[in-house]
Parts: sequence; C-alpha cells; structure tokens
Amino acid sequence: MPSAANTNVSLSLSQDAPVTASPSFSITLLLQAVNNGGVGTLICFKRTLTLKMKDHFDENTEQGSLSTVKWGKMLKNEVSPHISKTTRLPRKRFYRARAHSNPLSDSHFPVPVSPCHVDYCLHYPQHFPSSDQTFNSKIQFADIGCGFGGLLISLSTLFPKTLMIGMELRDKVTEYVKERILALRVENPGQYQNVSVVRTNSMKYIPNYFEKGQLSKMFFLFPDPHFKEKNHRRRVISPHLLDEYAYTLCIGGIIYTITDVEELGEWMKDCLEGHPMFEAVRDEELEADPVVKLLSSATEEGQKVARNGGHTFQAVYKRVVPSL
Ligand SMILES: C[S@@+](CC[C@H](N)C(=O)[O-])C[C@H]1O[C@@H](n2cnc3c(N)ncnc32)[C@H](O)[C@@H]1O
Repeated sequence: MPSAANTNVSLSLSQDAPVTASPSFSITLLLQAVNNGGVGTLICFKRTLTLKMKDHFDENTEQGSLSTVKWGKMLKNEVSPHISKTTRLPRKRFYRARAHSNPLSDSHFPVPVSPCHVDYCLHYPQHFPSSDQTFNSKIQFADIGCGFGGLLISLSTLFPKTLMIGMELRDKVTEYVKERILALRVENPGQYQNVSVVRTNSMKYIPNYFEKGQLSKMFFLFPDPHFKEKNHRRRVISPHLLDEYAYTLCIGGIIYTITDVEELGEWMKDCLEGHPMFEAVRDEELEADPVVKLLSSATEEGQKVARNGGHTFQAVYKRVVPSL
C-alpha cells in the first residue's frame, strides 16, 4: 500500500505537468488517486488532474510546473490558496455556502445579551484597543444580510469616522467578509478600521446589538425574496420587524431597501408606507445622498443584476415621529 513516500513520487510527476495548484486541493486529489490503486493510476489521471486543478483555481493562483521547492513552500502555507496573489484578498470560491439559510431555524452562535455586551474591541481594535475604556462612539450603520460585504467596503471609505457592521446569517459568507476586511486593513494601513461583520440572525437579535435610537442607517439590499406566501414570514422586512427597526433607528435615520424582484419591492414599500414611524425620503434628498448611488452598484447582488440588465426597485424611508 502506498505510504507517505508516495507524496515524493507524485511530486516528481507533477513537475512536468503545467498546472494551477493549491496544496490542500492537490493533496486531496493525490490521496484519492493513491487510494484508488496507486501511482500508476495517478499517471493515468494526470490530464484529468490538471484539468480539475485548472477548474478549481483562477488565474491569480500559482501557475506553471511545480518544483519540489515550490511544493515545500506551499505545504508550509506560504502561499495560501484562499488568498489571491495579486489582490491579497480572500477568493469567494473558497467560501461557497448554501444559497439560503432558514432564518426561522435555530442556529448556534454567540449572541451578546445586550448592546453594551457587544465586543467593540474585537470588531474595531484600532478604535477600541482595550475593553476597559468607555466607548464614546457606537455603531451607526447596519447592513442587514450583508452577503459578501461589497456595500460595507464602499461605505467604510465614504464614512471613515462612522462605525458600521454587517449582519449575515451564513457562516462561510461571514467568514469571507471577516477575511476581506482583515486583508484590506493589512493592505491599507489605517483604513477599514471602522467596518466589521457578525454572524447572526437579524430577525431575532437586532435588539441585542443596538440600543434605542442608536442607528442612523439600515440597509436591506437584495434580501432573499421568499416567494411563496407561506414563507413571507421569513422576509427581513415585515410590519412587525419594522417596529424593531423603528426602535433602533434615530429620528431622521434612514432605511434603504432595494431588490430586483418587483413583488418584493412592492411588499417592502407597502410595509414602509403603512408604518406610522416611516416616511418616504423626497426625491431631492435621494439625489443628494451619495449612498443611494451605491445601492445598486456596490453589492455583489446588485452587480449581478446590472450585468444581466435587470430592473431594480428601491424604497428609501426616514424614521419620523408619528403624528398624533
Ligand atoms: C440575496 S443575499 C444579498 C446579499 C447582499 N446584501 C448583496 O446585495 O449582495 C441575502 C443575504 O441575506 C442573508 N440573510 C438572510 N436572512 C438573514 C437574517 N435573518 N439575518 C442575517 N442575514 C440574513 C443571506 O444569508 C444572504 O447572504
């Protein structure tokens, strides 16, 4: 039965195969091949292996014949396949997650018992180096269902003094955003220190994160549509949840929503229009607001819709004091 020594045999085989490779993926394939009948089988698999590797990695990955030296470096993790060599940012394909998570099911992640238990030092270490200091600024923007974090990244430099956070239900997607922010901080010293992300279910835990009147902007960009009527209760905008958002927003605070699903666009607008604590933002204000331009361009979903020439439906509302 092949042993660890097979790794060397496999390596010399790889030397004449110009491939795109990552240590973990290659090793998985090599071990599979070895388990399937030894090194001879591996030679037969060479072309498939090469193609599979090319499928698996993009042009930013290490290219060319693999020398043993390069393998050594890769095995020591000096080149992480998760990080693009050119941009130094994490690559999305390694953080693929299920298309949807059920927001009504119970997931297991830590939740702060109240907003004063949110660990600002963890999220914004440059602003809050120690946990015993008094926090003179609080999170003001929340991107609900932030996905891969495109909006937050744009907002971070547009509002460098404002603390903001993304809330995302899917763990791998949250992990990607975390890595993305950390990489941007390393590449751009002093920047992106005001942005963070948390894995949570915004439909359940908003009041655990934010005090009454704390937020000045909330974003709901391309939320999951939950088409079937029986699933409408999974939608992140609903009359009942708007009560919570109204509690969390300051007077004058703004809710931004956008979708490419017309029916959902109407639903979100109807909910907001029918709520006594929200009022549509006027056209002149929308035009003057730099954030509005980002709604369709900054997020990954927005970019996908634009690429496909899709329509979008936005509703932007302001938190007001209800008239008696
Ligand atoms: C269609 S994606 C849009 C992502 C991003 N806003 C964009 O425009 O690219 C919707 C995101 O909301 C997340 N999501 C859905 N329900 C959620 C909830 N209750 N709490 C937090 N995130 C949620 C999903 O996991 C998904 O990443």
